Amino acid sequence: MVETNPNEIVVVKSENSKINTVDFDNLVFGRVFTDHMFVCDFENGKWQDPKITPYQPMTFEPSARVFHYGQAVFEGMKAYKDDDGKIFLFRPKQNYDRINKSASRLAIPEFPENYFFKGLETLLKMESDWIKPGLGNSLYIRPFVIATEPAISASPAATYRFMIICSPAKAYYNKPVRVLFAEKFSRSADGGVGFAKAAGNYAAQFYPTGLAQKKGFDQIIWTDASTHKYLEEAGTMNIFFRIGDKLITAPTSDRILDGVTRKSVLQLAEDLGIDYEVRPVSVKEIKDAAEAGNLKEIFGAGTAAVISPVSAFEHADDVFEIPQQENSYASLFKKTLTHIQHNLSEDKHSWRHEVK
Ligand code: COI
Repeated sequence: MVETNPNEIVVVKSENSKINTVDFDNLVFGRVFTDHMFVCDFENGKWQDPKITPYQPMTFEPSARVFHYGQAVFEGMKAYKDDDGKIFLFRPKQNYDRINKSASRLAIPEFPENYFFKGLETLLKMESDWIKPGLGNSLYIRPFVIATEPAISASPAATYRFMIICSPAKAYYNKPVRVLFAEKFSRSADGGVGFAKAAGNYAAQFYPTGLAQKKGFDQIIWTDASTHKYLEEAGTMNIFFRIGDKLITAPTSDRILDGVTRKSVLQLAEDLGIDYEVRPVSVKEIKDAAEAGNLKEIFGAGTAAVISPVSAFEHADDVFEIPQQENSYASLFKKTLTHIQHNLSEDKHSWRHEVK
């Protein structure tokens, strides 16, 4: 059934919903997708034909530029439902701004704000049944853009497709993660694309992360490319350290993603009166603090990962176990953040955005 809604987004509804086939209690991150998706194409110099269609495979020419030169960027967002059935996004303008920042760096045309929000909100209202209430439940939202032009000269495309797909989600990590501090491989460099959510940033991590996994670690904490002396981010999340009662995280830069959860944690630290510093964090100081018994916590912060505690790290064959704290900052931030997201507590910074 084709409908045109008041926002001029064409809506083609799926004939059958898959929702009854989904086990919402046992979700593996990013494997199940909702019934619909939002699609919009860039052609003849403008974004046009925004539509919602059934979630379905798409065809592209083998020569589509994205397959050859990786001209692709994405975002990660979540929708939450409260016990009254109201749907909320968390700081969605941050994601909108960031996808365009990422796009500009990869020579992709910026996406219009009205299409982004109308497309997203129309889609979420259609997929409302997929958003389960309750802490720990969310709908992960993946906006992304790919270069579709069938041409393989090494230059930016003339045509693109912007899409939003959604996946019901629980935790990304089911247990505290063990991490390796990078000594040889790098994720990003000055002047590069580390700050962007560029698809290639993730592809480049898979091989070294696979080597780390063979050694029994879940993730790598990337260090600066030139000296490998400073800890930057974990690739799937930004990273925080607690030495004594002080919270420390690296400043954002060309090389580090400006995470929405990261900046929210820093604001919450301010609100909760937790002493924090945003400054370069050296491998040496973290190892020294661990040896002295002052390293109380390491945790990651990201949309998918939420707040994920780190239980051990390795560097230069030295392994440090981090005993889990009774009253950890990680659990305090997780509770404070998820209560705001689920409309269970006051939202003094107006981070919640209700989808009406
Ligand atoms: C997110 O947190 O949304 C991300 O994009 C990380 C991804 C590895 C799942």
